[in-house]
Amino acid sequence: MNAKKISAVLAAFVLLQTLTGCKANEAVQEDTAKEEIPEETADAETAAAYTMDYMVLVNKLNPLPSDWEEKLQTEHFTNSIGEDVEVEVNAYHAYLDLKKELEDEGIYVDLDSARRSVEAQQKIMDDFTAEYGADYAAKIVAKPGCSEHHTGLALDLYLIVDGKDIIYNEDLVTYPEIWEKIHEKLAKYGFILRYLPEKEHMTGYAYEPWHIRYIADPATAAEITEKGITLEGYLGVAKETEPEINLGTSSLYTEEELNEMAILIKCQFAAWNGSELQSLTYAGDEKANQETLDFINELSEGTTCVKAAEFLMNFHSPRENSGALNPDADYKDYQWYLGCDEEGSWEIVSFGY
Ligand code: DAL
Ligand code: ZN
Repeated sequence: MNAKKISAVLAAFVLLQTLTGCKANEAVQEDTAKEEIPEETADAETAAAYTMDYMVLVNKLNPLPSDWEEKLQTEHFTNSIGEDVEVEVNAYHAYLDLKKELEDEGIYVDLDSARRSVEAQQKIMDDFTAEYGADYAAKIVAKPGCSEHHTGLALDLYLIVDGKDIIYNEDLVTYPEIWEKIHEKLAKYGFILRYLPEKEHMTGYAYEPWHIRYIADPATAAEITEKGITLEGYLGVAKETEPEINLGTSSLYTEEELNEMAILIKCQFAAWNGSELQSLTYAGDEKANQETLDFINELSEGTTCVKAAEFLMNFHSPRENSGALNPDADYKDYQWYLGCDEEGSWEIVSFGY
C-alpha cells in the first residue's frame, strides 16, 4: 500500500516540517564541537587538516552536511562474507579495539555495513519498499541523503555464532543476551546504541540492536548510555520524553501486532519537528469495524485493505515552525488510521481530525 491520500492541510504541514528540519540541521552542525584527530590514526600529512564533527546529527530531519564527503577519511576491509566495508578512519580503529575485547570474551562480531553512498541507500530503500511497503521501510531504512550511514560513523554489526554468520535482522534479534553484552562495552570505545527501544518517536526508527554510532568521546558515550537517552535528546534538538503507550486489549490483534502499528506511527511522528508525543492509545476493537475499513479503503489508492485499526494520540505542537498546527498547543485524541493488506502489511493511511 504505497499510495495514500492525506488532506491538503496535513500534506502542507508535513512538507513544512521537512523543509524547516533541513534548515535546523545547519544550526546543529555549527553548534556541535569539532574534535582534532590524533596524528597516529591517520596519514601524517593529512592528519593535521582532518577535523570531523563526531557529534554530527543525521536523521529524518537533518540530512548529511553538504561538505561531509570532502572531509571524510575512511578505511576499507573485507568482512567474513567477502563484502567490502568502508568505515571512517577513527571509528574503524575504535571498532577493532571493541571487536578484540569482545573476542576475548568469546563474542564474535563483524560489520555488515558502515559507510553507504546515497545511491546504495536508495537501492536499499527501493528493495524494502517493494518488498514490505513504504511505511514499513520508513521505520527501518533512512531516506537517501538522511542516513547516518552516509557519515561513515554508523556501523551495523552482525554476529558469528558457533562459526556461523548471522546476518539477517530477523535472526539477529534472537540473540538478546549477546547484544546486551556487546552494548555494555560500546561506551568504552566511544560508541552509543543509536536506535533505542521505546524511543522511536524521537529517533524515527525501530529498535536496532546492531546499529552502533561512533561519537569518539568515551565519557560522552558513557553519559548518553547511562542516562538511556537518544542523541537527539543529548544534543537538545528534541525533548527526551517517555510517552504513555496504551495498547489495551484486543481480540482482533495480538499485542505484537498492535505494538508494530504503534511503532509505525511513532516513526512517522519523529519527523514532526519539535512536536512532543504524550500518549498513543489503541482506540479499541469497536473502532476496527467495517465502517473504518470502508473509510480506509476509500483513501487507499490501488490497494485493498482487509483489516483496519485506529489510534488516538495526545501531543504538544512546537512553539515555532508548527506548520498547519496551532503553535504551542495541546492536541488531544488526534486520530491515526491504519490498514492492512492481504499480505499482512500494515500502513498508515490517514491522520488528523
Ligand atoms: N537503518 C538505518 C535507519 C538507516 O537506514 O540509516
Ligand atoms: Zn545501520
